[in-house]
Amino acid sequence: PCNAVVLISGSGSNLQALIDSLGEDNPLRIRAVVSNRADAYGLTRAQNAGIATQVLDHKAFADREAFDCALIEAIDGFRPDLVVLAGFMRILTPAFVRHYSGRLLNIHPSLLPKHKGLNTHQRALDAQDSEHGCSVHFVSEELDGGPLIIQAVVPVEPGDTAETLALRVHMQEHRIYPTAVRWFAEGRLRLAAEGALLDGEKLPATGYL
Ligand code: GAR
Repeated sequence: PCNAVVLISGSGSNLQALIDSLGEDNPLRIRAVVSNRADAYGLTRAQNAGIATQVLDHKAFADREAFDCALIEAIDGFRPDLVVLAGFMRILTPAFVRHYSGRLLNIHPSLLPKHKGLNTHQRALDAQDSEHGCSVHFVSEELDGGPLIIQAVVPVEPGDTAETLALRVHMQEHRIYPTAVRWFAEGRLRLAAEGALLDGEKLPATGYL
């Protein structure tokens, strides 16, 4: 099996998609869900699935370094092969990213390298993009800049708002994240100098799944 720890800050709909992908034929095991917010609804989703939870409030730490240090200690207590960022809304220190190099995945709600950072749906509308989407990538020290694994594209429709666009993107997130995480759990996905490799072939695989 592949032991994973999932990090969240909010609703946890991507966590739910990962939970729903678990099964006898999937080597993924979610050992714990860690949140920096005690009120994250994803904690309830984890508890409902019988998964251990832990809250580590970033506001209780003097600085980013101290928080990330404690976060590493909490995560490593579960001996993970993989750490999955699922709506974890904290910028991670280089030391954290290096510690989990090659076993740290993130999902971002845009077609990276477009729209790194926050408010991606509104920014796609403001830029009059005809397409938008989401990306799964290995985390590197550059914010939202690590090697791409898989992307899904959605059309931007006339009359879209940030909310309608977010819904359309979310539906795709819930498909591509479990897919990428499963690839990793199956030992098919790895980080190499030239980028992300699936069965030895260069990624990303772009488009509708
Ligand atoms: C998702 O849309 C994810 O792509 C985004 O937060 C949302 C979390 O939703 N992540 C980021 O913006 C990372 N910078 P969820 O809690 O329902 O999974």
